[in-house]
Amino acid sequence: MEAFVSPALIEDIVALYRLRNRYGFPIWALGGGSNVLVPDRGLPGVLLHTANLQQQWVEERGACVTLIAESGVPLHRLLARCSAEGWTGLEFMAGIPGSLGGAVFCNSGTKMQSICQRLRWVDVIESDEAVRRYSNEEFAWSYRHCSLRGFVYRVALELEPSVPATVRRRIRECLKDRSRQPQGRKTAGCVFKNPDGMSAGRLLEECGCKGLRIGGARVSPSHCNFIENIENAASKDILELIGICQRRLRAEKHIDVGLEVQLLGECGDGCPA
Ligand code: EPU
Repeated sequence: MEAFVSPALIEDIVALYRLRNRYGFPIWALGGGSNVLVPDRGLPGVLLHTANLQQQWVEERGACVTLIAESGVPLHRLLARCSAEGWTGLEFMAGIPGSLGGAVFCNSGTKMQSICQRLRWVDVIESDEAVRRYSNEEFAWSYRHCSLRGFVYRVALELEPSVPATVRRRIRECLKDRSRQPQGRKTAGCVFKNPDGMSAGRLLEECGCKGLRIGGARVSPSHCNFIENIENAASKDILELIGICQRRLRAEKHIDVGLEVQLLGECGDGCPA
């Protein structure tokens, strides 16, 4: 990476895109960094970090609460606000790491729900430097995928009023559902997408991948769809483990699993913003 920027103002992001269009360097948008794998040699161009895009406000109209937030707001902070105010709708996101922009880009969620079901509109900075507002219906959404291209700047989410105790209880239930997943460890969340109606984690366990180790990376002993960085793992260690898991699944179960984690730069086909 040749430069790292963390702007707080939309004008500065638009100015960065203007420079990019003039000089032709790649821009990589990064939020919490929780669903990406970066090559060991780093990335060329500019890394656009969303940590300073943290404004959020609310429009309440009768039985509907619209929470508008910039892309850098961490998901746990959104949930903390929802449980303090008693707004329901986002509880299923409890325990998912990362920030709002990345969650929209990847259509994050669980088996039952994903963020697109709560999304009203998104303000996107596009490659021609224009800021455009798209409503939910203008995107094609699927499991862990959204057709959106460009930089997610601001998002409006639709919630409903409830009471704090109920929201907190639902959050606790969702966290219980994730109790098998490695907590407090260095992972990028689920590595593989679930094949239709199946759990990639369970299939990998059945193929004997549990605890497999390459360099500093290992398949989590508690949930095989997670790869843990246990000792300064390099991207190449993780990529090798990913390859072994995919080959075992193909050989033993005749199943090809796609990646949920995004491989950036020379690691794979993750695109600049
Ligand atoms: N299982 C095993 N061995 C394993 C892992 C799981 O036997 O190594 C079993 C579990 O015991 C359970 C079943 O497989 O009976 C399903 O496991 P789990 O409930 O953990 O669900 P999952 O299908 O593995 C999905 C999402 C998770 C989300 C959970 C809970 C994907 C790829 N994974 O996992 O999302 O937290 O459901 O809703 O969609 C993520 O997106 O990063 C992620 C972790």
